[in-house]
Parts: sequence; C-alpha cells; structure tokens
Amino acid sequence: MGSRKRLEVPNPLKVVTLPLLLASLVGSPAIAQSPTYGVGRTPTAEELRLMDISIGSTGEELPPGSGTAEEGAQLYVQKACIGCHGAEGMGGLAPALRSQRDADLPVWEKERILPLRSPYATTVWDYVNRGMPLGLEGTLTSDEVYSLTAYLLFINDVISEDQVLDQESLPKVSMPIGDEFGKPHEFKLNSPRLEGYPY
Ligand code: HEC
Repeated sequence: MGSRKRLEVPNPLKVVTLPLLLASLVGSPAIAQSPTYGVGRTPTAEELRLMDISIGSTGEELPPGSGTAEEGAQLYVQKACIGCHGAEGMGGLAPALRSQRDADLPVWEKERILPLRSPYATTVWDYVNRGMPLGLEGTLTSDEVYSLTAYLLFINDVISEDQVLDQESLPKVSMPIGDEFGKPHEFKLNSPRLEGYPY
C-alpha cells in the first residue's frame, strides 16, 4: 500500500474572511453614509415616488382620473385580462373575477372573488394598479385602472353600468360584504375558521 499524500484542505475561515475584508475596505467609503451603522443611503425622491403607491381604505391617496364599466369592458380585452381570466371574468386559468353563484346567496357563500368580497372598493383599484396585468404591472394609467375597477364591480353587481368612478366616488362604493368582513364568527373545534371559508 503506497502512502497517499494528505489532501490540502484550505482553511475555510481564511477563504471566507479575506474577500470579506477586502470587500469591506473597498466598499466602505461608498456606503458609509448612515452615521450609526455605516450602511445604506437616503432614497431619492424619484425612488420614493415609484414605491409610494399604496391606496388605503379611505382612498385619500387615489390619483385624479375617472372611468366607467363600459370603458373597462374594452380595456379588459385590449389589455389581455381576458386571456388569463376568461370572458367576463370567468372560465380562464387565472382566478375568476366574477361569481357564478346565485345572486341571492349571502356574500360569504359566494366564491372568493376580490371585486366582490373586498371590504373596500379602493382595494380593487389598488390591486389592479399594483399587480395587473400580470407580467406588465405598473403599465396601466389611472383612468384605465378606474375603468377596469368599474367593470369588475359592475359584473359583480356592485355598481351600475353607467356609474363613473373617480377619486370621490370610488371610496363611497358600498361593498356587499358590509360590516361582515371583520366580524369574528363563532369558533367550534374542528369546524372551519370562518363560515364559508373553504380552507
Ligand atoms: C398573464 C395572466 C394574467 C393577465 C394578463 C391578467 N391577470 Fe389578473 N391575475 C392573474 C393571476 C395568476 C392572478 C392570481 C394572483 C395571485 O393570487 O397571487 C390574478 C389576479 C387578479 C385579481 C385578483 C383576483 C382575486 O380574487 O384574488 C384581479 C382583480 C385581477 N387579476 C385583475 C386583472 C385585470 C383587470 C387584468 C387586465 C388589466 C388582469 N388581471 C390581467 C393572471 C393574469
């Protein structure tokens, strides 16, 4: 049996610490702007503007603009919402945007449809504005988001076809869920957490 030379295993500590040390020496002048930790920098006004898009329940952050369901119906096709969500919000591979259940059922017994079960209509605007169309998020104008929101609320019988949605009217839309959204349901062991909640 020939004696085999032991493999030289590099000391992992040395391997990791040297580049780290170098990186911190090279990088530190550029990033040492926070007096406490020496990292980070103040975002620019433009960076903040692009991130500051949340619309709260009262809608006070809503931008100017307006739209109707009629315009929204056209945009729903033009912006390819129809390709993922199906005609009139039904039958696509993406979640349904319109309930197919009986209109007279209590809202908790209908499907989990955002433009139907949201506690606030402003949530629908915010979701479409920040998240759709999937893959091209952030490309819709404010008018287009008002129109698409109007269309989604109209096909769920929440508003009438001719209602104009804008900064003033959208927060006033009363959603069918009413006060039921936050109401705690009676809990019994081994029963679903919420009435009508499927999981
Ligand atoms: C490429 C496919 C695709 C396109 C195009 C698309 N969506 Fe979606 N959409 C999705 C998927 C997938 C989800 C579910 C995302 C999730 O639950 O995380 C979704 C979710 C939604 C929801 C929330 C549904 C719910 O009940 O949770 C709304 C509202 C919506 N889309 C509206 C639109 C509108 C309006 C357009 C057109 C401007 C659009 N989508 C275009 C794929 C798409």
